[in-house]
Amino acid sequence: MKAVCYGLQWGDEGKGKVTTYLSKDFDYIVRYSGGSNAGHTVEYGEFKLVHHLVPSFDVRTKTKGYIANGVVVDLKVLNDEVEELKKIGFDISGRLKISSLAHIVLPVHKMLDEKLELSKGSKAVGTTKRGIGPAYADKVHRIGLRLVDLKEKEVALEKLRFVSELYKNLYSIEWNDYDCIFEEYEKLKDCIVSPLEMRSELNNSNILFEGTQGVLLDVDMGSYPYVTGTYCNVTGVEPGLGYPMKIDKRIGVFKAYLTRVGEGPFPTELFGKEADELRKAGKEYGATTGRPRRCGWLDLPLLRYGIEISNCDEMIMTKADVLIGMEKVKVAVRYKTSEHGKVTDMPYDLSLISNVHVEYVEFDGWKSLDDKNFEKFVKFIESETGKRITYISTGALISDIVRVS
Ligand code: IMP
Ligand code: MG
Repeated sequence: MKAVCYGLQWGDEGKGKVTTYLSKDFDYIVRYSGGSNAGHTVEYGEFKLVHHLVPSFDVRTKTKGYIANGVVVDLKVLNDEVEELKKIGFDISGRLKISSLAHIVLPVHKMLDEKLELSKGSKAVGTTKRGIGPAYADKVHRIGLRLVDLKEKEVALEKLRFVSELYKNLYSIEWNDYDCIFEEYEKLKDCIVSPLEMRSELNNSNILFEGTQGVLLDVDMGSYPYVTGTYCNVTGVEPGLGYPMKIDKRIGVFKAYLTRVGEGPFPTELFGKEADELRKAGKEYGATTGRPRRCGWLDLPLLRYGIEISNCDEMIMTKADVLIGMEKVKVAVRYKTSEHGKVTDMPYDLSLISNVHVEYVEFDGWKSLDDKNFEKFVKFIESETGKRITYISTGALISDIVRVS
């Protein structure tokens, strides 16, 4: 079985927790895109993990993790996570593999990320400043360094000096402290594998591919330019691995409301007291940057769009427990635009979604997840999207999840 668990919204749907829960039935959890911009908070009960690069496998089980070529790796962040786990008694070094073709995030990438954002002024994307965009750009500029390029120190040094020189000339960014790269590389060296070595192993294994961010942040199909630097959609699996892979099941995760970090349109966004209450109840603060997340109501035109572009097979809903006790819960059902009248689905021209009038349906709130009002909410989403909700996450713990169909 090859499945993908990915976000149907703007990220932070709770994929980390859900993937960790599902991981027990798989041999490998494979990260195929993104980098340390991702932030997964996973509550084990006796401890809590916040991780950025380590794939979301349950550290208490035998499931392994693979970081494929499509990921950009900040070596220090990854080493720190592995070290952190060791401190609490989980040595995952034997269970973690990283493709030798994965590109490295260098300090200059983070510096350029910051500088670009500042230079863009009001047009800034609101990135996590983890160097993601510049690292992918350098991959395409063909000046990036892959893990395999660090093997021979002299050759690597020459490449690093070349990158430094370019950054100095093009962007006035100075960096020449290369030692830290080699120090971090030494710690990770034993986990590095060639993608072809992994191919037969992966072909013969049960794999859950773990998406990062959400499809609305996909560089091609998301709310461009307010997106990340790579593929958050399921389409990222193959370029991320470097070879074709038939996927049996696409499991999309969505939150019972909606959040977004960073800039860009958000038709159902709430402000003031309502937003503050939701943010507080849902602990909606970025796991990577600590930024308060923008909060709003569930948006069905956007959800349907996410389902369509990812060929979603089934859905998992998270965080409906956060809405417990609310008097009314709203759901956006369609948009109205001055040009096109009523629009049920998200307009492909994403610039339109900045200026839409949103039509909502209102539900009576629920006092628990056994409440009939909650059942109505679930059934409504299923009928409006045409997709089944197979699990409902009922709280922060890995075990807080119920199968519904
Ligand atoms: P970048 O990925 O750091 O370049 O940021 C680009 C956009 O994606 C910004 O709006 C970020 O806030 C957003 N973003 C990146 N990673 C995540 C994530 O894991 N969750 C939610 N938003 C993210
Ligand atoms: Mg997150």
